[in-house]
Amino acid sequence: MILKNISSLVFRLVLIFLLLTNVSFSSPRNISPYTKSLNKRDSKKVYNLTISEEKLAPDGFTREMFAINGQFPGPLVEVNKGDTLVFNVYNDLNDETSIHSHGMFQRGTPWYDGVPGHTQCGIPSKKTFTYEFKVDQSGTYWYHSHSKAQYIDGIVGPLIAHDPDDPYLEEYDEEIVVLLQDWYHTDAKTLLPQFLSPVSQGNEPTPDNGLINGKNSYNCSWASEGSNCHPMDVIEVEGMMTKRQTIHRLPINIAQRYSVIVTADKPIGKYWMRAEMETACFANEPNTLNSLVKATVKYEDCDDNDNTNSTAWTDSQETCIDLDTSSLIPYQEQTIPNVDYKLTLNVSFYPDATGVVIAHINDSSYVINEQYPTLQKVYDNVTKFATDQNVYIIDKDEVVDIILLNSDTGEHPFHLHGHVFWLLGVGKNGTSPDYDSVNTKNPIQRDTASVPAGGWLIARFVSDNPGVWGYHCHIE
Ligand SMILES: *[C@@H]1O[C@H](CO)[C@@H](O)[C@H](O)[C@H]1NC(C)=O
Ligand SMILES: *[C@@H]1O[C@H](CO)[C@@H](O)[C@H](O)[C@H]1NC(C)=O
Ligand SMILES: *[C@@H]1O[C@H](CO)[C@@H](O)[C@H](O)[C@H]1NC(C)=O
Ligand SMILES: *[C@@H]1O[C@H](CO)[C@@H](O)[C@H](O)[C@H]1NC(C)=O
Ligand SMILES: *[C@@H]1O[C@H](CO)[C@@H](O)[C@H](O)[C@H]1NC(C)=O
Ligand SMILES: *[C@@H]1O[C@H](CO)[C@@H](O)[C@H](O)[C@H]1NC(C)=O
Ligand SMILES: *[C@@H]1O[C@H](CO)[C@@H](O)[C@H](O)[C@H]1NC(C)=O
Repeated sequence: MILKNISSLVFRLVLIFLLLTNVSFSSPRNISPYTKSLNKRDSKKVYNLTISEEKLAPDGFTREMFAINGQFPGPLVEVNKGDTLVFNVYNDLNDETSIHSHGMFQRGTPWYDGVPGHTQCGIPSKKTFTYEFKVDQSGTYWYHSHSKAQYIDGIVGPLIAHDPDDPYLEEYDEEIVVLLQDWYHTDAKTLLPQFLSPVSQGNEPTPDNGLINGKNSYNCSWASEGSNCHPMDVIEVEGMMTKRQTIHRLPINIAQRYSVIVTADKPIGKYWMRAEMETACFANEPNTLNSLVKATVKYEDCDDNDNTNSTAWTDSQETCIDLDTSSLIPYQEQTIPNVDYKLTLNVSFYPDATGVVIAHINDSSYVINEQYPTLQKVYDNVTKFATDQNVYIIDKDEVVDIILLNSDTGEHPFHLHGHVFWLLGVGKNGTSPDYDSVNTKNPIQRDTASVPAGGWLIARFVSDNPGVWGYHCHIE
C-alpha cells in the first residue's frame, strides 16, 4: 500500500516503546517504571544490535539459531515517548537481514520501517545499517527481522515506549515484559521450502514447543534419535490505553500485544503462568507437542523449595479468534471520522501452476523485489507497478476502510505498518461485512487484528503518514 505525497513528508518524532505486561507485586516499590527510566532520560536512545548465528537451547533442545547481541530473545529496548531511537544493526550472518520496529508509525521516516523490498534492500552480510527515528507514541511493541522468516529463528525482541501520562502509573509497582512465542526445533531455512512445496497443501508447520520469555522445558523422549536434547529443569492494546477490564484468559495472536495489571494478593508462593496454544487452529497436531506452555511466577519471599501450585481457570473460550475488543473501552473517548475511501481485499490460498499452495490478495500473489524496493520506485517517479507488487495507491489524508475478506479456511492476524486502525467490526464465516452492525462509536485502535476463517473485518485508518506500508498476515 502506498500513501502518496512523499514529497511533502513532514519530519516528526516517533518514539517507540514496547510494553507487554505490567505485573503488580505486593512488595512496596514506589518507583514507577516510567519515572525510573525518566531519571535516565536522554533524548536519544542508542541500541547496538549485532545479529549472529548461535547454538542455543531455549527449551533444552540445542539448535542453530539466531541471536541479538548473543542473547535470545533480543535485548529489551526501552524509550520514553518523545525520544529518538537509534538501532545500529550489524549483520554477522552469512545472509541478509533487517529490523522492523513493529507498530511504530515511522512518521516522516518511512525508509526506516525495515521491510526489504518495500522500504530498503536487505542489510548485507557483515555490514551495518542504522535506523533512526522519533518515537511519538507509547505502549507495547516489538522489533523483528522482516527477512525470510528469520524472526522465528530468534531475531526478535521487545520494545517498550513509556508514557509520562500513563493513566495507570500509580496503579502498579513494577513492569515485567512477557514475550510468548511458538518455537520450532527446525530452522526457517528448512521449514519455508517445505511449506512452499506442493506437499504442504498450504498448511503451516506446527511448532514443537512454546516459549515464555525465550524459555520452556521439552520432553526429551520426543526428540529424534541423536539430537542434542538434554533435560533441564488488559489495560493496553498495542499502544492504546483502555478502561480496566477483568478477564481470566487473554487470547493473543501472532504479533499482538496487551498490557494487563495483575494484583499479587494471593498467599506467598509459586504459581503457573499458562500459555496454551490453540491447537484447533493448527492444520495438524502431532503427538509430540505439549501445547500447554508454562512458566513460574513467584512471590519475592517464597520458599524456593516450594512446589509450583495453581490450577487453570475453568471457563472455556472460543478458539481461533481474537479477544472480543468490542467490549473494551478506550481510556480516552475518541470520535472517529467518516470514511472517504473503501478498499476491499480478498485473501485466498490456492495452488500455483507447480502445485504449491500460495497466498493471494485479490488473486495476486506478492513477489518481493529485494533489489528495487517499492519506496525507491516511488522516489524514481514510477507510477505503474507490476500486478505482482500488490500496490494499492491511497491519497493523503483520506479516511480509509480496509474491508478484508478471508476466503481461507484458517484465521490470519493482519498487521498494518506505519499506522493504527480502528477495528470497526469482525465477522465469522457465513456472514458478510455489514456497516449496520459495526462499531463506529469509540472503537478500539490497534495495529494487528485477526480475520476469522471464512470471515471478514473492517479496519479504518487515516492516511496521514506518506510512505510505502505493508499490510500482511503475520504468520511468518
Ligand atoms: C555502539 O557502538 C559504537 C561504535 O562501536 C560505540 O561507540 C557506542 O558506545 C555503542 N553504543 C552503545 C549504546 O552500546
Ligand atoms: C515424555 O514423553 C513420554 C513418551 O511419550 C511419556 O511417556 C512421558 O510421560 C512424557 N513425560 C512427561 C513429563 O510428560
Ligand atoms: C495446592 O493448593 C491446593 C489448594 O490450596 C492445596 O489443597 C494443595 O495441598 C496444594 N498442593 C501443594 C503440592 O502444595
Ligand atoms: C478485490 O476483490 C474484491 C472481491 O472480489 C472486490 O470487491 C474488490 O473490489 C477488489 N479490490 C480491488 C482493490 O480491486
Ligand atoms: C475471493 O477469491 C477467491 C479465490 O479467487 C474466490 O473464490 C472468491 O469468490 C473471492 N471472494 C469474493 C468475495 O470475491
Ligand atoms: C521525480 O519527479 C520530481 C518532481 O517532478 C523531480 O524533482 C525528481 O527529480 C524526479 N526524480 C527522478 C529520480 O526522476
Ligand atoms: C464456512 O462454512 C461453510 C459451511 O459450514 C463451510 O462449508 C466452509 O468450508 C467454511 N469456509 C471456511 C473458509 O472456513
